[in-house]
Amino acid sequence: MKQLLSSLLAIENFDVYLVLGILIGFGLMESISGFLANSKRSKGDWIQEVFSFLFLSTGIKPAIVATVYFMGSSLYPEGTQLLKSLSFVPLFFGYILLDDVLQYWYHRSAHEYPFLWKLHRSHHQAEEMGYFVSYRNAMLYYMMMPNIWWVGFVVYAGGAKAVALGLVIKQLIIISSHSTLKWDKPFYKYAALKPIIKVVERIIITPSFHHSHHGTSMLDKASDPNGNFGNMFSLWDQLFGTATFQTSYPEAYGLHRKTEDDWTAAYFYPFVSSKDKRSEWHRDFKHEDTATKEALNVELTKGKEYLWCACGRSQTQPFCDGSHHGTKIKPLKFTAKRTGPVRLCNCKATKKGPFCDDTHLSL
Ligand code: FES
Repeated sequence: MKQLLSSLLAIENFDVYLVLGILIGFGLMESISGFLANSKRSKGDWIQEVFSFLFLSTGIKPAIVATVYFMGSSLYPEGTQLLKSLSFVPLFFGYILLDDVLQYWYHRSAHEYPFLWKLHRSHHQAEEMGYFVSYRNAMLYYMMMPNIWWVGFVVYAGGAKAVALGLVIKQLIIISSHSTLKWDKPFYKYAALKPIIKVVERIIITPSFHHSHHGTSMLDKASDPNGNFGNMFSLWDQLFGTATFQTSYPEAYGLHRKTEDDWTAAYFYPFVSSKDKRSEWHRDFKHEDTATKEALNVELTKGKEYLWCACGRSQTQPFCDGSHHGTKIKPLKFTAKRTGPVRLCNCKATKKGPFCDDTHLSL
C-alpha cells in the first residue's frame, strides 16, 4: 500500500489524470445506463453545468490557488516550508478533514442564509441527478468557497501532494454521490450486504445519503432537503445533528416552487437577474409574509403526513412549499390523528405546533 501510494505520488500531475479518468468513467457509465437518452435536462441546464465545470477547473480554482501562492510567497517566503517537515499521512488527513468540515459549514450556511442560498439555489433546481449536478452553483459561490482558499494555502505551505491526492478522493466521492448510478442500491436490497453499507455510510457520503438532500419534500420518506449537508464524510452531519440515513431514493428532485430562469441568472447572480418575477433571482423579488393573525381551519385525513409551514412565507399556508430555504427554519412534519377539520396555527408563534394554542390572541 505504502509502495503504491509512493509510486502514485511520484507521477507528475497524477491527480489531473485520475480526476479526468473519474469524469470520463462516470460519463460513460451514466450514458450506457441510459441517463443521456432519458435525460429531461434543458439546453440551459447543460450549458450551465458544463460551463460551470470548465470555468471552475480552468479559471476559478487555478486563479485562487495562484493568488494565495504568490501573495504568500512574496509576503512570507519562509511559509513555503511550513508543512514540508510533516510526514505525508498526518498532512493528508489534516488537510482533507479540515477541507471537509469547511465545506460542510459553507454548504449548510448556503441553506440557512438568504444571500448564500441564492448562490447555491441552482444546485437544487436540478430535477434529476447526474454527476454534472455537482457543478451547478453560481460563479460567486465558488469564488467565496473557503475550501478553494484552503487548497491555495496548503499548496503554498508545501502540501501540494496531499492536495492532489485529496482532490482525487473528493471528486470520486462527490461525483458518485450525485450520479444516477446509485452504487449503494444493492447494499440496501440484499440483507447480507446491509451491515456493510451501515458502516460505509457512517464514513463517506453515499448516493442515498446525498440524493436525500436533493429530494423535493420531506413528505417523501427518502428525502431530507433540510439536512445531509456533508460532501465527503458523513461525520459532520452526525456530529452536528443533520444526518438522516436512508435506504431508498427520492421520488422527486428539485425545488417545490418552479420558476423559469435563464442559466445566465443562475450562474452570474447577483450580476445578472432573472426575468421571472416569481424567482428569487429577480431584481424585485421579496418573500411575502403569508402568516396571518387567525388560525386556519383545514381538513386532514387520518394517518396522512403533512408539512406545516413554520417560517410564515409559504404560498400554500398552513403547509410548507419550500419557501423556507435560505433561513434556519424548517417545516414541521406531522401525521393527522383523525379525519376532519383541525385548527392549524398560522401566526407561527404557537408553542404547540402545528396546532393553534391561541398565542395569536396575545400578539
Ligand atoms: S415554507 Fe417551509 S417552513 Fe415555511
